[in-house]
Amino acid sequence: MTAALECKDIGRNFGALAALANVNLVVQPGEVRAVIGPNGAGKSTLFNVVAGAVKPTAGVVLVDGQDITGMTAQRICHYGISRTFQISALFPEMSAFDNVRLAAQGKLADRWRPIGGRKVLEQASELASQAMSRLNLKAIQDVAVGTLSHGDQRLVEVAMALSQRPTILMLDEPTQGMSIQETHRTVDTLKSLLSEEKLTVVLVEHDMDVVFSLADRIAVLHRGQLIADGTADEVKENSAVQDAYLGGLD
Ligand SMILES: Nc1ncnc2c1ncn2[C@@H]1O[C@H](COP(=O)(O)OP(=O)(O)OP(=O)(O)O)[C@@H](O)[C@H]1O
Ligand SMILES: [Mg+2]
Repeated sequence: MTAALECKDIGRNFGALAALANVNLVVQPGEVRAVIGPNGAGKSTLFNVVAGAVKPTAGVVLVDGQDITGMTAQRICHYGISRTFQISALFPEMSAFDNVRLAAQGKLADRWRPIGGRKVLEQASELASQAMSRLNLKAIQDVAVGTLSHGDQRLVEVAMALSQRPTILMLDEPTQGMSIQETHRTVDTLKSLLSEEKLTVVLVEHDMDVVFSLADRIAVLHRGQLIADGTADEVKENSAVQDAYLGGLD
């Protein structure tokens, strides 16, 4: 089986700092893979390398066997990768629906015209509507995003990524800053989404309860290096992981 995503010997330096070094990661189609690690481990950098926001200084990224290394984010989106950001990227005064539609439009538009025409707008509206339904956000779709709860805002961001019809959905700390209730709701929503359709997911997350309830496998980064990669039990028992977290994994 061809891997959905394969990172081969990825390196990324920022000046003298090796934010990533020799990172190898294989994600199979339909798998939910968590990427965990202490602050500054390189998780977001790895995300940015895969999604095209940052170019790697070494290595290759393959999506469904195709080399996408160093392509722009816009092009990579057409290979089926959509992502959310660790820091919210919403237009607060626009409605939730319009934020999602804009994301869908961004993917569709360049096929015909840079900002798209009426047909693009119609298609984007349909995609936005589907994404909002799949995440149970219909009730808040006309509300200005800036006035929504933090939990709703983060889910709107997931809807934005989903509206682009990705095969690989990349979520950078989707429950960051959420209350316990909001976190539970987000996990339930993501679980129901994943039970309904076969999506490959790469998830960066600090909340280990979220990781253990969603992920099939867990990759652990520490100071730019992949120090473990396996099931939850394998990772919990790994001594390098225990050292990196100083026993904080449980
Ligand atoms: N654009 C940049 N320029 C310089 N250094 C950077 C840049 N982006 C990231 N870094 C550095 O690279 C290292 C890895 O950062 P990264 O954001 O990938 O970590 P992270 O694992 O996502 O951390 P967190 O859990 O805090 O989100 C850090 O030391 C960070 O300061
Ligand atoms: Mg990060």
